[in-house]
Amino acid sequence: MLDFTDYSLLSHNTFGIDVSASRFIEYESEAELQSVIHHIGCKNILHIGGGSNLLFTGDFKGTILHSAIHGIEKVDETKEEIVLRVGAGEKWDDFVAYTVEQGWSGIENLSLIPGEVGASAVQNIGAYGVEAKDVIAVVETIELSSGEKRIFGNLECNYGYRQSIFKNQLKGKYAITHVTFRLSKIFTPKIDYGNIRSTLDSEAKLTAALVRQTIISMRMHKLPDPKVLGNAGSFFMNPVVSREKFESIRTEYPDMPFYQTDGGMKIPAGWMIEQCGWKGRSLGRAGVHAFQALVLVNLGGATGKEILALSDAVCHSVKERFGIDIHPEVNII
Ligand code: EPU
Repeated sequence: MLDFTDYSLLSHNTFGIDVSASRFIEYESEAELQSVIHHIGCKNILHIGGGSNLLFTGDFKGTILHSAIHGIEKVDETKEEIVLRVGAGEKWDDFVAYTVEQGWSGIENLSLIPGEVGASAVQNIGAYGVEAKDVIAVVETIELSSGEKRIFGNLECNYGYRQSIFKNQLKGKYAITHVTFRLSKIFTPKIDYGNIRSTLDSEAKLTAALVRQTIISMRMHKLPDPKVLGNAGSFFMNPVVSREKFESIRTEYPDMPFYQTDGGMKIPAGWMIEQCGWKGRSLGRAGVHAFQALVLVNLGGATGKEILALSDAVCHSVKERFGIDIHPEVNII
């Protein structure tokens, strides 16, 4: 277990914001976590993963918890399926790489997403037509107030687009220790999203490994590497609007991209932000990425407040132009 006071969070947030936490504790097992919360209580705690979906606007005056629970364990296997129980502290993309190497599929479209396995179950990470909820079977947690173990089945997690019970009703109340995934041994390609199909090497055999490679190159082309330019991936969620609202905008913008969802029409926030002229522009040391306007970047030494000021300005422009409220998906602390 690691336990530090006045600890720099620079290497724990991909935005590269230079803030500190009063205390930082990293635990390696459920028992260690239970012992930590027994001693420090559950007040003023923030549990983080890889820090890839966080914006710190100042020093954190409390205790940051981080899981170093590792391991990938096979819990069930049939001819068609494999069920894996994974430690919350495993790096998400290492897990994806491992499953693809083994010839298992289901999460290859979620390649190169930064962050850790525990956070994948909180955020319901999604990309290229696949969401974590599609493959999550069970989420194991520890309740921070009691130290008791609680297991959530997939349906109990209330998953939706970038949503889960852990981000809403139970926010900050449970720490995820393990996530169990149900993957397939029979490869069913999901390549209808955007331009995956046209980007795939048509000469090569279609495998999960090829889809992973294609997704990796697509992401590397569009999304900034946090090691080079601080960022937290998509800063905003794509708004879902009524069909009436959608039709009224489409009259003016016939080429507007969109996705039909159960709850209404989803309009890419990145497209709206680009229409507002923000793509590639900056405010102080905070910028809108030049290749994907959904991503805000730290141009070097930005504070969380500067990024937030840019976010507010972008939301304001989108509201003025389209009459739509867009909201950060990044957790602002
Ligand atoms: N678009 C623009 N300008 C932009 C950005 C996008 O016109 O600056 C247009 C694109 O041309 C396309 C549409 O908007 O027609 C959608 O763009 P894209 O496929 O890049 O996806 P997105 O909706 O902008 C979402 C996820 C991404 C994920 C991609 C691919 C959210 C909030 N973001 O972005 O997730 O990689 O789809 O599936 O849903 C992340 O969460 O960090 C992330 C990168």
